[in-house]
Amino acid sequence: TDPELVAAALAALRDVADFPRPGIRFKDITPLLGDAALFARLTRAMAKPFEAMAISHVAGIESRGFILGAPVAQHLDAGFIPLRKPGKLPHRTRRVEYALEYGTDALEAHADACGEGGSVLLVDDVLATGGTAAAAVELLEGLGATVVGCSFLLAIDALGGAGRLPGRRFETVLHV
Ligand code: PRP
Ligand code: MG
Repeated sequence: TDPELVAAALAALRDVADFPRPGIRFKDITPLLGDAALFARLTRAMAKPFEAMAISHVAGIESRGFILGAPVAQHLDAGFIPLRKPGKLPHRTRRVEYALEYGTDALEAHADACGEGGSVLLVDDVLATGGTAAAAVELLEGLGATVVGCSFLLAIDALGGAGRLPGRRFETVLHV
């Protein structure tokens, strides 16, 4: 990725102390989204490594993965699949539960979201522990899709999320 773009994006990224809980340092991407040029350049950079692949669908993880996944899908001439928090999708769904620091959460997709043989790119804003992305991959493969890669805006390297995506192609525009 263009080093000037990376530097501008990292400069715009906002660290918020003690959000959503004491002791957590939250990475706020809203200043990057609010800058028209940065937003467009960053979603293009997320799509670029996958341009030569035949991607049928981009799957975005609710909620911040929706914001980035939709423009990435348009850059790749792909459809969009929303992976949603439980109870939001109206039709027949599949669900995968995953562990959080305390308790569990779940993601759902429509059972017929892409059909057998879909080549899907997973998109989310942040790769932290990797639990969310690993669950999303499992959910998509359960639908019969092939997850050909994952594209994140930002990886928090110290949290080791890459270890949850063994052998899988993934790309990240920014690292902290
Ligand atoms: C955040 C972030 C990623 C996930 C990364 O989402 O947007 O989806 O956490 O964490 P992990 O790698 O440790 O699983 P969150 O669940 O806070 O919801 P949001 O996107 O709706 O803000
Ligand atoms: Mg999220």
